[in-house]
Amino acid sequence: MVKLGTPLSASATRVMLLGAGELGKEVTIELQRLGVEVIAVDRYADAPAQQVAHRAHVIDMTDAQALRAVVERERPHLIVPEIEAIATDELLRIEADGLATVIPTAFAAHTTMNRERIRVLAAEELKLPTSPYAFVASREELEAAARQLGFPCFVKPVMSSSGKGQSRLSTPADVAQAWQTALDAGRVRSPRMIVEGEIAFDCEITLLTARAVRGGQIGTHFCAPIGHRQVAGDYVESWQPQPLSARALARAQEIAGKVTEALGGMGIFGVELFIKGDEVWFSEVSPRPHDTGLVTLVSQYQSEFALHARAILGLPVSADLVQPGASAVIYGGLDGAAIAFDGLDEALAVPQSDVRLFGKPQSYVKRRMGVALARGADVEEARARARSCAAQVRPCKTIDTPE
Ligand SMILES: Nc1ncnc2c1ncn2[C@@H]1O[C@H](COP(=O)(O)OP(=O)(O)O)[C@@H](O)[C@H]1O
Ligand SMILES: [Mg+2]
Repeated sequence: MVKLGTPLSASATRVMLLGAGELGKEVTIELQRLGVEVIAVDRYADAPAQQVAHRAHVIDMTDAQALRAVVERERPHLIVPEIEAIATDELLRIEADGLATVIPTAFAAHTTMNRERIRVLAAEELKLPTSPYAFVASREELEAAARQLGFPCFVKPVMSSSGKGQSRLSTPADVAQAWQTALDAGRVRSPRMIVEGEIAFDCEITLLTARAVRGGQIGTHFCAPIGHRQVAGDYVESWQPQPLSARALARAQEIAGKVTEALGGMGIFGVELFIKGDEVWFSEVSPRPHDTGLVTLVSQYQSEFALHARAILGLPVSADLVQPGASAVIYGGLDGAAIAFDGLDEALAVPQSDVRLFGKPQSYVKRRMGVALARGADVEEARARARSCAAQVRPCKTIDTPE
């Protein structure tokens, strides 16, 4: 039996988001629709989800003491991490102390924030197929690992996300630059990196996988595969469904089922996989909504955000597709505060299109400020519409900033 209370009252069901970006904003809206009280935490003020939550706090979420203090003050029933850069050691303690339930589990948040932990779990404990890899802590070790794995290969700090600090190495001459890039971006004092051999995939997908109640137990629900295109470690375009062979789909679901079961709890997971013919490799997993899954706002009856909200509250879900859809990222294109977006009338004249503007107070050239969404008779039509919609949204300056 699931009971939900009245927000801002003693009966309220309280959810605290750690990270209040565009994905958290959509989760907040879904929770608001069910009358859940939402507290949005981020490291800066007026973050997207904070603009639609009941209350907001600005703290350094990597600071264990500050994190503990905000949880003790708000006493949420559920803590929902939206980003990786959180003091997950403290989440483990909060969960162990019975202070709140961490979504999906504190173990999942702790394991996936570090590429070494999740790779060891996936490849060595669960025996899932992955790219060949090695962990290195010095330039010399990096050089040796790259030679051993062969070129091209990838170097990534074990703690980093959104392509930060990543390099693709074509030859041994790229080692020095890759080391420096990873060093500069790493979130830790003692550097540690993963080196991965390149998988020459046909396509890469996100398999959104929901763990939610089904018949009194936790069931695993798979969304249709989402295809996406990454540029410099950042997603620029995604679509659903990405066609796969029957064998590849079965393998993808088997891998996603195993890794999400090992991480445990309830909620949505974004399982990133590489596909070549019938072969499938596990790449990484987010125990939370995935940016490439923004497409589900138009392609599914229950978007990944609705699925997350329902699953974490113990409610049943449906992962069914409505129609082929696509998303195309709208970048800031310029550095500045309080920017404006021109051309929305033309953008939304594209058939079956929609736009989300995230409301971020500060724009950067490469910051994701919005997304264009579209449906189509097939994925090709949806992609063309989403791209055309995104292209007509023109970020512009409203305040003159000194040169
Ligand atoms: N071993 C690999 N083989 C082929 N492509 C890779 C490999 N590792 C990363 N990539 C490419 O780089 C992108 C970002 O890497 P990923 O490990 O997902 O980092 P992030 O955590 O920043 O998303 C992937 O989506 C893929 O396009
Ligand atoms: Mg990724």
